[in-house]
Amino acid sequence: MARLGKHIIVNAFNMNCVGHINHGQWTHPHDRSADYTRLDYWTDLARTLERGLFDGLFLADIIGTYDVYGGGIDVTLRESVQLPVNDPILLISAMAAVTQNLGFGVTVNVNQEAPYTFARRISTLDHLTQGRIGWNIVTGYLDSAARAVGQNGQTNHDLRYDQADEYLEVLYKLWEWSWDDDAVIRDRAARVYADPAKVRKVVHHGRFYDVEGWHLSEPSPQRTPVLFQAGTSGRGQLFAARHAECVFISAPEKQLARKAAQSIRAAVAAAGRRPEDVKIIIGINVITDRSAAAALEKLAEYRAHSSPEAGLAHFAASTGIDFSRYDLDDPIPYGPTNSIQSATKLAESRGWTKRDLLNQLALGGRYPLAVGTPTEVADELESWVREGDIDGFNLTRLATPETYEDFADLIVPELQTRDSFKTEYAPGTLRHKIFGQGDRLPDRHTVANFRPGPAVAAQ
Ligand SMILES: Cc1cc2nc3c(=O)[nH]c(=O)nc-3n(C[C@H](O)[C@H](O)[C@H](O)COP(=O)(O)O)c2cc1C
Repeated sequence: MARLGKHIIVNAFNMNCVGHINHGQWTHPHDRSADYTRLDYWTDLARTLERGLFDGLFLADIIGTYDVYGGGIDVTLRESVQLPVNDPILLISAMAAVTQNLGFGVTVNVNQEAPYTFARRISTLDHLTQGRIGWNIVTGYLDSAARAVGQNGQTNHDLRYDQADEYLEVLYKLWEWSWDDDAVIRDRAARVYADPAKVRKVVHHGRFYDVEGWHLSEPSPQRTPVLFQAGTSGRGQLFAARHAECVFISAPEKQLARKAAQSIRAAVAAAGRRPEDVKIIIGINVITDRSAAAALEKLAEYRAHSSPEAGLAHFAASTGIDFSRYDLDDPIPYGPTNSIQSATKLAESRGWTKRDLLNQLALGGRYPLAVGTPTEVADELESWVREGDIDGFNLTRLATPETYEDFADLIVPELQTRDSFKTEYAPGTLRHKIFGQGDRLPDRHTVANFRPGPAVAAQ
């Protein structure tokens, strides 16, 4: 087989909770996910990932609870389906302290916090990690989240993206415009820490946000964190085309991944950027061992510990449909949704019944499963990159940290022998490691409209 010709990006996919994607695995004797409240669980994980040269740790998050299935949270609680869930941001400093190169992509919903204070939180992490921070921008999909903060229900799907667009504009002004690169002088003799002529007050009055203030943090290595986005509805794709540097898609088949990847790259080009300015990442499950028989044995063990009903409770929240109301073979009226459109449309197009969903969701969530020896799995990963036209993977956990250790010990060396995976980290910030073009977003990105210069200075 011809060489792949590029290095595959691999992030560990995780969440500050017990059951993330593969529900029920917390009952597996090798699984440590119930230790998620302990700091050493996270620092050990960070060390394992850096040993395996993972590009990053991608931390999912939700605000709100999965209360759609059965109209309540009984299954969610019993099986710990992303509940309880702790704050992911607070893990990062500790993990950064025990690593030098691992990146951190943290999910934060734009409804969670005012842009002004969020800008400082991210700048602080970009300083403390020396430029290793990424942000997964999400707009939410749970009514329970909106109600928890005093709203009647979540706002309309496309309107949420309009609001997110403006949220980003405010952030760009704070991160990229408020302070010049040479604003901080630190001249002891002259008694000047920062030059007042080089620090500007952001004045933003828009449809959703009113912000007047100077950014609280001095410029950090990347200024704007590496921008991740997940959500490939039509409106979601427009948002990605404008802002995202890494797009996380859910694709059960290679041809669907290829279609989504090509459509995203075309949208990126239409937004005045280069198609290669965006990396396309898919979620994947890997189960491997030294022999095919041992890998299949692991698969059987994971399957024995899985909870298909918990998977269904998770998917009910993603689609907004209470599957408990249907019999196993009833047709499901998917219809329009205010939740994750990309997830719902796929289920609708395939006509998935509850029986189909229980089978699929037992292991792997909405993500493909690669099972086999290191050679077989490496073949499969390369084939996804080639045929799916993608750049890399978010690796889910089955038993943790077993899944990540297996990948580091068995899959990484195999990919390295094929030159499909790096043998050492590139220097510099997370953005530079991924794109090799410096620490900051390039000028062809929409951020350029919010940097110092005539466009913004006039406002
Ligand atoms: C693969 C994938 C992963 C996602 N992860 C999260 C997440 O961790 N937290 C969250 O609040 N939303 C998450 N979402 C939801 C989306 O980011 C988005 O805000 C919203 O649901 C709309 O998606 P859509 O454009 O496909 O309709 C995810 C969506 C996809 C497709």
